[in-house]
Amino acid sequence: MEFSRLISSRQSLRAFADRRVEPEKIERMIEAARWSPSCANRQPWRFVIVEAGDPSRHALEESLDAGNAWAKRAPVLIVTGARKADGSSVETRDYFHHDTGLATMSLLYRAVDQGLLAHPMAGWKEDPLRTALSLPEDFLPIAVIAVGYAGRKEDLDGETRKKDERTRVRKNAGEIAFRGRWGEPFRGTLPSSPAKVYETEIPLRFGDIDAMGHVNNAVAMTLFELGRAKFFAEVVGIGRIEDYEFILAEATVRYRLPILLQDQVRLRMHITDIARSSFKFKADLFDPRDGRVFTEAETVQVMFDYATGRVKPVSAEFLAKVRDYIGG
Ligand SMILES: Cc1cc2nc3c(=O)[nH]c(=O)nc-3n(C[C@H](O)[C@H](O)[C@H](O)COP(=O)(O)O)c2cc1C
Repeated sequence: MEFSRLISSRQSLRAFADRRVEPEKIERMIEAARWSPSCANRQPWRFVIVEAGDPSRHALEESLDAGNAWAKRAPVLIVTGARKADGSSVETRDYFHHDTGLATMSLLYRAVDQGLLAHPMAGWKEDPLRTALSLPEDFLPIAVIAVGYAGRKEDLDGETRKKDERTRVRKNAGEIAFRGRWGEPFRGTLPSSPAKVYETEIPLRFGDIDAMGHVNNAVAMTLFELGRAKFFAEVVGIGRIEDYEFILAEATVRYRLPILLQDQVRLRMHITDIARSSFKFKADLFDPRDGRVFTEAETVQVMFDYATGRVKPVSAEFLAKVRDYIGG
């Protein structure tokens, strides 16, 4: 998955589907963690993977706080932690926690990269967790990560669902990053994640389904084209294709899950990477009922003057119209 999409797709959601996780996906997550950096390459991290049906699973679930009961539906629970004795210390600074956090982040991103949901938790009781997994004294458990495929938020209890629907917030860059010295806010010039993501319904027709019973990438591309046309009509105010001021220079379509005729398909898209004469659209087709992403696309548009046959700059007027939809 493209890196900025990886960052924007990762979210600590709580609804898990009743679907097993392929063992190779867990293996790749551990592999990603294994290649993380660590102070003096001491690799203090350790992971205990507990799947549904494993003998220790019930006792591990029992150690979770009541507020994390949703995690019992996750097919895989991974307990992360560190051996302090394996960590590096510099002066009085211990790095085992830091390095285990780095490895855990790699593990989370590799999960997202493979279409999985991974939610870290600190809400559990240490003694019963230690007993459940027969942890040695010199191992410090740090987090439990619930891993699985995203499910339907309608299946969550009301309180948990509210947590999943909360607007995600972050401190501003100037509050967490300083330039030159402490207290001098770092000021970015790039827009942060898009304030708005354009969304539109994509009605599937029988003719969109191929001999394999699903929507193949060639057809998916036409669905993205349909979405782009709607975006231009609704946001930019250009309804006729012959009035477009760009050519489609490049398109990448990434298949993730099959789209079947009974699926509900919505498209979401925003603009990225605006250069002098080009810009990109990032888009995906997803099921609004459970958040499953079927197909991702990225297209590069080059502004083109059809009268002179030359590339031309992205106009200020165009940028003004799409400003809300521009993100990293
Ligand atoms: C170390 C750690 C412990 C967490 N513990 C819990 C937890 O016990 N229960 C829970 O629902 N979420 C837990 N979270 C998830 C955070 O609430 C979540 O990461 C944060 O609100 C930001 O949301 P996001 O991950 O969707 O960006 C934890 C996250 C981290 C990194």
